[in-house]
Amino acid sequence: MLPIPRGREEASSSVLQRRRATSNQHFIRNVYVQVFFIESICDDPEIIEANIMQVKLSSPDYENYDKEEALVDFLKRIDCYKMSYVSLDEEKDKHLSFIKIFNVGSRYLVNRVQDHMQSRIVYYLMNIHVTPRSIYLSRHGESELNLRGRIGGDSGLSSQGLKYAKALSEFIRGQSINDLKVWTSHMRRTIQTAEALGVPYEQWKALNEIDAGVCEEMTYEEIQATNPEEFALRDQDKYRYRYPKGESYEDLVHRLEPVIMELERQENVLVICHQAVMRCLLAYFLDKSADDLPYLKCPLHTVLKLTPLAYGCKVESFYLNVQAVNTHRDKPTNVNIARKPEEALQTVPEHS
Ligand code: F6P
Repeated sequence: MLPIPRGREEASSSVLQRRRATSNQHFIRNVYVQVFFIESICDDPEIIEANIMQVKLSSPDYENYDKEEALVDFLKRIDCYKMSYVSLDEEKDKHLSFIKIFNVGSRYLVNRVQDHMQSRIVYYLMNIHVTPRSIYLSRHGESELNLRGRIGGDSGLSSQGLKYAKALSEFIRGQSINDLKVWTSHMRRTIQTAEALGVPYEQWKALNEIDAGVCEEMTYEEIQATNPEEFALRDQDKYRYRYPKGESYEDLVHRLEPVIMELERQENVLVICHQAVMRCLLAYFLDKSADDLPYLKCPLHTVLKLTPLAYGCKVESFYLNVQAVNTHRDKPTNVNIARKPEEALQTVPEHS
């Protein structure tokens, strides 16, 4: 399971029903539910004002409002909320499981963490931050195996791939990013891409491309010719399908959890990774479903700049103008095991 997607923290923090709760454990229609309360308290006037300016002014309530008027109005609204708001009480609520977050993480109070899931929620909440920053996602430059339509493997960059590595370096320099961290996988193609930047980088094994098991270094055509059933099964449920002796997207999402947690802790980061890995990272930040995730478009030689905002994430796409092969295969219309080879290969991209 991925950590709680960004932007969902508010949903998990609906603590106003708290007064009625007498215990952390409930049965709802025979399903056992553990309740964990999250309270975020802010009484620092500067943070409140900045939050109103950055977040509340863009709400439909304040469309066409003068900024100062909107600020005064929202402060009055907070005074009204205060009249009925009840905070978690350290003494009276000591039997409940909860975390209280003070002034956007300057202090925390954690009470009765009872299981693994709750400790992960606490860890997550203690690591996210609101400092403005951007995450840059890029695949490695085009590789020798990409050119030949072969998946996986550990080949080096093609000549176009090397050109992209240079273009990426210029692009990053042009962005004038403060204190940028650069991360790669352990695979040659991402390391070669990062080398061109001429800055230190950190290698993460967890960022390695999806392991295609027995299908490593094969073309989609070869997989169809040798394992047509497997090929169809993958098309039927690409997120959950696990390659024999390899991984599924679901496995990859689990593998990437520590990377995502660390991305939440960091500020500006450039992640040089792979097609399937980039889809998983993108799906996390854009809150995409398991069905959409394996088909997200992450073309070669294109940087995606993600800027987390109060509600969601801004995405900017930069194609760096260095031609590369297309490696994206859409879901074909027919995913039946008994389909004809040409139906299975309907969406395979061109390659040499
Ligand atoms: O083709 C490039 C590649 O990165 C392969 O190494 C990997 O198996 C594949 O993309 C993942 O994409 P898909 O899940 O669409 O096959």
